[in-house]
Amino acid sequence: MNITIKNNKQIDDMRIGGKLLGRALTLLKESIKPGFNCLDLDKIFANFLKENNCDSNFKNYMGYPKYICVSINEQLIHGIPQDREIENGDIISIDAGLIYNDMHLDAAFTTICGKPKNEKDIELVKITKESLFLAIEQIKAGVRIGTLSSTVQKIIEEKGFHLPTAYCGHGIGYEMHEDPQIPNVGKEKTGIRLVKGMTICIEPMVQIGTPKTIVEKDQWTVRSADNSMAAHYEHTILVTEYGYEILTAWED
Ligand code: MF3
Ligand code: CO
Repeated sequence: MNITIKNNKQIDDMRIGGKLLGRALTLLKESIKPGFNCLDLDKIFANFLKENNCDSNFKNYMGYPKYICVSINEQLIHGIPQDREIENGDIISIDAGLIYNDMHLDAAFTTICGKPKNEKDIELVKITKESLFLAIEQIKAGVRIGTLSSTVQKIIEEKGFHLPTAYCGHGIGYEMHEDPQIPNVGKEKTGIRLVKGMTICIEPMVQIGTPKTIVEKDQWTVRSADNSMAAHYEHTILVTEYGYEILTAWED
């Protein structure tokens, strides 16, 4: 296990990078309308990076071909933006990251385009976001990773939704994926303890019908095995002595 602690300069850079990523996600969310092409979402983000002197941590990551992930409806994560128009009622999950001054940030949100198809879809998106913020509220130095995981698991399972276990949150900073892993399922008061200066990503991924997932033929897109709807939220968070700071905070 190689957990890294960031110094003040690096944390300041991550604050700036996080604010930039938040602004970019705002731009993307505002663009989600019926008829909007997913390739244009990717272009908006790529242009934003250029204009703000940031690099991409997604493009070319293990051969990933785009700047963001756009996962639609039954797609959970890692959807490659396609030449596809967003439709009314589509559940759109966008995952995006950037590098600012060599420091990595990573965040995701889910939103429903236009008029939701049903109440369950609304509940799915709401509970996924809520589980992220409940876990974040647990964060401070000394708290164990399992407590974050079990906070997500409890609320999601209480409401009858499902958590795929193959995908996790993670440490972040010098690289997009650092130790430790932060699962969405676990036992409270188990696992390693958070330390002041750690920067981590918590990212609940939630499905309506099953915890099982399938990777599509494109080798990236992960969808629910039963084609039920899916949602994903993520923030990059700094652990402090008495609490936390959401580095990628934005008005979602
Ligand atoms: N942001 C994703 C994560 O949280 C990683 C995306 S990998 C990419 O782990 F290749 F799709 F960029
Ligand atoms: Co992540």
